[in-house]
Amino acid sequence: MPVYLRPVLCDNLAMAWLEVKNLTLKEKDTLFLSELSFSLEKGTITLLAGRNGSGKSMLLKSLKGLLPADGSICLDGKELKRRERLRSIGLVFQETALQIVGSTVEKDVAFGPENLGLEKSEIAKIVDAVIAELGLEKVRTKNPSDLSGGERRMLSIAGVIAMSPSIILLDEPLANLDYPATVNVIKTLIKLKEAGFTILIASHEAEKFLAHTDRTIIMRGGKIVSDRKSEDSLDALKKYGIYIPPKLTFKELSWAE
Ligand SMILES: Nc1ncnc2c1ncn2[C@@H]1O[C@H](COP(=O)(O)OP(=O)(O)OP(=O)(O)O)[C@@H](O)[C@H]1O
Ligand SMILES: [Mg+2]
Repeated sequence: MPVYLRPVLCDNLAMAWLEVKNLTLKEKDTLFLSELSFSLEKGTITLLAGRNGSGKSMLLKSLKGLLPADGSICLDGKELKRRERLRSIGLVFQETALQIVGSTVEKDVAFGPENLGLEKSEIAKIVDAVIAELGLEKVRTKNPSDLSGGERRMLSIAGVIAMSPSIILLDEPLANLDYPATVNVIKTLIKLKEAGFTILIASHEAEKFLAHTDRTIIMRGGKIVSDRKSEDSLDALKKYGIYIPPKLTFKELSWAE
């Protein structure tokens, strides 16, 4: 348990619990998301799987409040309006360039807490804790454009958790990462779950996340076609054309020893 994160970031996180009902996204005659209903239990990791174009990114953007979807989104039983979602739901974009704004790593991590109007001493505590948690100490004074792809990915996650969101959404967090960077992201997400965060990961690389998630939701054509415990989702993933290495059991799919 990363004890240094809990007092800094996680005082209220133990209560987080998200319930989504009938989320629908239409534009003119096109239905992108069709009456999606599901919940994310507090302190769990859920995998959002589905083939290219199934609607995963649109679902994440709708949850965050960046797309005008209809339906209700409740946190701990209380409906979240779009403005509240922008604050309490963190989204790590697939494209790190969309997210990284600071001229150094530490300034970038401080950007969110500064926007929240926190005291300087509080911001400094958060920046130190988040940089330590995500292993960014060695690069904290570097310009983000000089970072490797793996470091930039960790920085984009750092910027989101520094705002202490109730729910963390990640869109294809393994895009363009090599093996060590992949393991690093997976282990970091496991640590964040242990610290109390509730996490939803959209990825078509289901085989890398499955063993580390509690639940798996599968989308196809803007609809949810399966929503069950991850350990019971192998057959459904295969049925919907999502690659899982043959002959491996749920536990053998682990990427973090
Ligand atoms: N800005 C946009 N304008 C119009 N249609 C879009 C837009 N973005 C996505 N779409 C369409 O919406 C559908 C869902 O796309 P989305 O990006 O959510 O899929 P995805 O599951 O995230 O796919 P991938 O695995 O490739 O990231 C697709 O049919 C896509 O072509
Ligand atoms: Mg996508």
